[in-house]
Formats: sequence, structure tokens, C-alpha cells
Amino acid sequence: MDLFSDTLSLAAPILQAPMAGSQGHALAAAVCAAGGLGALPAAMLTPEGLDAEITALRQHTQRPFNVNFFAHTVPQADAARLARWHAALTPYYQALGLDPAAMPQGAGRTPFNAQAAEVIEKHRPAVVSFHFGLPADELLARVKRTGALVWSSATTVDEARWLVQHGVDAVIAQGLEAGGHRGMFLTDDLTTQVGTMALLPQIVAAVNVPVIAAGGVADAAGIRAAQALGASAVQIGTAYLCTPQALTSAIHRTALQSEAARHTALTNLFSGRPARGIVNLVMRELGPMCDAAPAFPLATAAITPLRVAAEAKGSGDFSPLWSGQNASQLQDVSAEVLTQSFIDAWRGQSA
Ligand SMILES: Cc1cc2nc3c(=O)[nH]c(=O)nc-3n(C[C@H](O)[C@H](O)[C@H](O)COP(=O)(O)O)c2cc1C
Repeated sequence: MDLFSDTLSLAAPILQAPMAGSQGHALAAAVCAAGGLGALPAAMLTPEGLDAEITALRQHTQRPFNVNFFAHTVPQADAARLARWHAALTPYYQALGLDPAAMPQGAGRTPFNAQAAEVIEKHRPAVVSFHFGLPADELLARVKRTGALVWSSATTVDEARWLVQHGVDAVIAQGLEAGGHRGMFLTDDLTTQVGTMALLPQIVAAVNVPVIAAGGVADAAGIRAAQALGASAVQIGTAYLCTPQALTSAIHRTALQSEAARHTALTNLFSGRPARGIVNLVMRELGPMCDAAPAFPLATAAITPLRVAAEAKGSGDFSPLWSGQNASQLQDVSAEVLTQSFIDAWRGQSA
């Protein structure tokens, strides 16, 4: 019994990566309509917002989909580090005419919790996936009791083994090329992070559940390579960012389709955790990795007003321009057409 073709009735195991802040139900619905697995990112939604998004998605598709959550531990605020962070941002506040004394604080993203579990119990999506490990046992048990398949990202072989020991139904092998946040959760040592081509076969050899390849897969050749390395499915993010169904901002789309997209880096400036984005002014000047940035997700609050002010002037200097390392062929074709081309590639029907 194949997880993807039998249990989820997919035309081919093409999974759209959940991308918090860059998409909602419209992209997920288009991918589902084409026969792939659409995903709804919940990390930046309130429980009410998530409920509304799932309801809207169900109005557009009868097919299975994935709802994705972050599973991080909320950190204690470290006053000294926050002060250093605010000091690092103050000159930019002044340059953009903002008041540094009004620099906001607080957490921008909430991990999976009891309220989110209630939404999952109400809607019972076919798949619930996590980034940054898994939630506490009791919360995970609530998800499993709904009958959902549970997946999570691994960035090392150790993380893949840990996830399987904790009961996941499939492991997402997230290679270093991937856009957005590294899903790393057993270590914060960036030297442990491995590219997809090396990570994928090692995880396939180490675990006895299906392995989903993520990171740098953006076209037919990448899909065939993932297949050859033992992937049971591919999860594709960046390639969907310029589709009309994504909510990617105009500034972000322009950057993705420019020469600038050839240079991405891991940066902690926008959230506190390493995430891959196109190198911009603030990454060049303060980072890309910066000791002063507070722990995830506490960095977001203070940098957001800079993003808003700069974007109002048409600049992405302070925006998280998330992108994987393979954004070379981004087109604004519809997500259905793109998904169909990925399905054809998986089936060996592409050129
Ligand atoms: C804009 C953007 C936002 C992302 N947000 C999430 C998210 O909310 N949850 C998650 O599990 N992964 C997220 N990711 C990572 C993807 O799941 C996946 O690992 C990555 O997109 C695969 O690499 P690719 O971008 O090269 O295709 C995001 C990626 C991007 C590009």
C-alpha cells in the first residue's frame, strides 16, 4: 500500500511545501486540483484564521491536503540580548524616520498548541506536518487520534531517526538548499547541515518510513534526481512562489526573478532562527547570521517596522526574501500547470 498513491490518492507524489506568510488556501487548492498535495501553513495564523483557511480550502477541493505547524519551544526573553538587538537596529530606525523608543517586542509565531489541536480535531485534514521537531506527546497523540498522517522535517540523519522513534509516518529530508527556515531541532550547529543530494540517500538508508525530498527541487531533472536517490515523494516550495495563487509580495517576486536570486544565505535576522533568503542590505550589513538577534521567534517584532517602512518605498532592504538555492527558472505560470509538469516529470513523461 503506497502512502501517496493509495492512502492520499495523489496522481504522483508531488507535495507543495507549506510556506507561512507566502500562501494560503488558493495555492493549496490549485495544487490539489492538479493531483498533487496542497499544503496550508499555520505558523502565522490565529486558531480562528486557520479555521477560516481550512474552511475556504474545503470549499475549493474535496481532495486530501496537509496542514503545517511549527513545533518550537517558546524561549524566555533575554533582556540583555534584546537590548543588543535593539541597539543594532536603532540606526536603521533613525534612517527611516522611525522612533527607536517604540520598537515592538513579542513573539511573532505561535507553536502548535491546544487551540490548534482543536482546529485539527474539527477539520481532520489527511496530513499534519511539523517543522522544528514535534509537539509534546499529549498534543501529538491528539493529532494522531484524528487519523491524520504525521510528517516532520529532518535536516540530519540523527533528526530523521529521532522523528521515526517518535512515531512519524514519513520524514521530510530538508537539504541545505531549501528556502525558508531550516527545520533543525536537535542541534543549532550549522556545520551539521547537508545538501539534499547527500542527505536524502543517507536518510533513506537510515529509516523505514517513506522519505520526502525537499530543497532545491524545482524542475523535472531535480525530480528525477530525487527519485534516483530513493525519495518516495518531493516537497517543492520556491518554485511555487511566483505563481499567481501565491501571496508573495511584488518586491519578493521581483527579487526572485532577478539576478539577485542567485545569491541566497542562511540568516537569523528576520526571526532568530536560520532561514534561507536572497541576500539584501540588512543581511549584508548585520549578518547574515548575527549574535545580537534574539532567539526564535523573538527577532521578528523589532525588524518588522523597518520592513514595512522600506517596502512602502518600494525597497526589499529589510524584507525576508525567502528563497531556495534553485530559483533559476521561476515562472508566473499557474500552480495547476506547474504541478502538472511536476507530475509528468515524476511519471517519466517529461522531456
Ligand atoms: C517562502 C517560504 C516559506 C516557508 N515556510 C515554511 C513553513 O511555514 N513551514 C514549513 O514546514 N516549511 C516552510 N518552508 C520550507 C519548505 O517546507 C521546504 O523545506 C522548502 O521550500 C524546500 O526547498 P525549495 O524552496 O528549494 O523548494 C518555507 C519555504 C519558503 C521558500
